[in-house]
Amino acid sequence: MIKKITPDPDLISIAPMLDWTDKHFRYFMRLITRRAMLYTEMVACPALILGDRQKLLDYNTQEHPITLQVGGSDAKFMGDCASFAKDYGYDAVNVNAGCPSSRVQAGKFGAILMKTPELVADIVANMKARTKIPVTVKTRISLVGADGDGFDDLFKFANLVKQAGCNGLIVHARQAKLNISPKDNRAKLPLNYETVYKLKKSFPDMFISINGNVMSYQDINTHLSHVNGVMIGRWAYGQPYALAQIDSQFFGDTHAVLSRPQILESMIPYLEEYDGNIRNITHHMMGLYHGMPNAKAYKQMLMSGDLIQFKEFVKSQI
Ligand SMILES: Cc1cc2nc3c(=O)[nH]c(=O)nc-3n(C[C@H](O)[C@H](O)[C@H](O)COP(=O)(O)O)c2cc1C
Repeated sequence: MIKKITPDPDLISIAPMLDWTDKHFRYFMRLITRRAMLYTEMVACPALILGDRQKLLDYNTQEHPITLQVGGSDAKFMGDCASFAKDYGYDAVNVNAGCPSSRVQAGKFGAILMKTPELVADIVANMKARTKIPVTVKTRISLVGADGDGFDDLFKFANLVKQAGCNGLIVHARQAKLNISPKDNRAKLPLNYETVYKLKKSFPDMFISINGNVMSYQDINTHLSHVNGVMIGRWAYGQPYALAQIDSQFFGDTHAVLSRPQILESMIPYLEEYDGNIRNITHHMMGLYHGMPNAKAYKQMLMSGDLIQFKEFVKSQI
């Protein structure tokens, strides 16, 4: 399916993933897709208020379009974070109201916020008051224990944040159970895409993106016939080159796709400029040769953390 109009960058987005979608991964991913929205890993609001803001918000301008994801539960401070997002040139700012990780729960944000949708709406309203860039929310269908399939809770949540001015909702299409790991959440709680499709029918003029186990172009196509956007997490990280055709397939963008060796070659100046162990960057690139005969040799080369070996590998591939 080729879309001729200029689509919203959130038509396809790469999910926020703690420790994975840092600025190095995003720079690398941008060589594979020019168009998909890239999300930062979640940045905690208290850290942005009290910590090294410059370090936490630093990114390369090549990464646009980019959304800053913030985790927090204090509406006023979240408003401050929205204004930082604008000041640092982010294209949008997103509230984490869906991640069940204990690291997140300890700060009283993430999935625990689904217990207090009025507070999330208050957060959104404060953020909207402080910035003109889009403010979006990432959530799950509901907490485990909600009535039925959780639709009523999801409807209430969407309605409240919409009234507060939320520009888009990303729904990870499963419920969330607090106090178990995100991994167990994924393993134990089933996906329910239909509930998210139903939400879209109830809110035809709200931008709704779906997330959870998207693993193929067919999956993307199916979801886009029901909702406005698709967010991709682990597939993008584990098999990034699988996404090399999304710009042409879904954004109607006809630029030439870089080959794997061309991507590596484009990373050389970035690696050369980095004044630290380049493994901080290369460990995010492990998936590039996924499924290729030389995947093992490629990974070994990356693990060496040696730029000379990196350059030799690239030369051997071009
Ligand atoms: C390593 C890892 C870290 C994650 N960190 C975040 C995060 O910082 N914020 C968030 O909202 N979700 C986070 N998630 C959840 C993902 O954004 C996404 O919702 C989830 O992986 C389901 O999508 P997928 O099946 O396409 O991977 C994380 C997931 C993983 C695997």
